[in-house]
Amino acid sequence: MEATRRDFLDYLIGGSILAGIGGFTYPIVKSLAPSKEELKTSVVRVNIKDLETFGVKVVSWKGKPVLVLKLPENFEWKGDLKTEDNIKVLKDKKIFALIGICTHLGCIPLWRPKGDADFHEPHLHCPCHGGIYTPYGDVVAGPPPASLPVPPQKIEGNMLVIG
Ligand code: FES
Repeated sequence: MEATRRDFLDYLIGGSILAGIGGFTYPIVKSLAPSKEELKTSVVRVNIKDLETFGVKVVSWKGKPVLVLKLPENFEWKGDLKTEDNIKVLKDKKIFALIGICTHLGCIPLWRPKGDADFHEPHLHCPCHGGIYTPYGDVVAGPPPASLPVPPQKIEGNMLVIG
């Protein structure tokens, strides 16, 4: 069967439509994909070999401050809790990461491993409005409405892999 002039025009129009759709959707799809810079920082590996008990390391993950904490083997939170999302997933972990952005208005909570004058247990203290979090990032007191977010993480040898 021989291709007619009509078939040729159909192919031409069909090809133009496909090229138009591709030209329109490609920039949209490309803008949704993570940038090379984002991919570089989407996984952060933190050496935890030299992290002391009650120590902290602050790293950046996806542009956010992340606190890597190490608690003693037998650490147990015995105080009150306003939120308890994190203790359920972190209580058996000795080393873990929390996103260090206060859930009230976004300040960076400070690690107080020995407590302070107002609160004698190890805790995270938000200096902006006095929010207090457990070492697991659950709220104990103050205005924060939610626990600190827990990023995806796993331990591989001496490294905590975040992301
Ligand atoms: S920003 Fe942390 S308590 Fe307000």
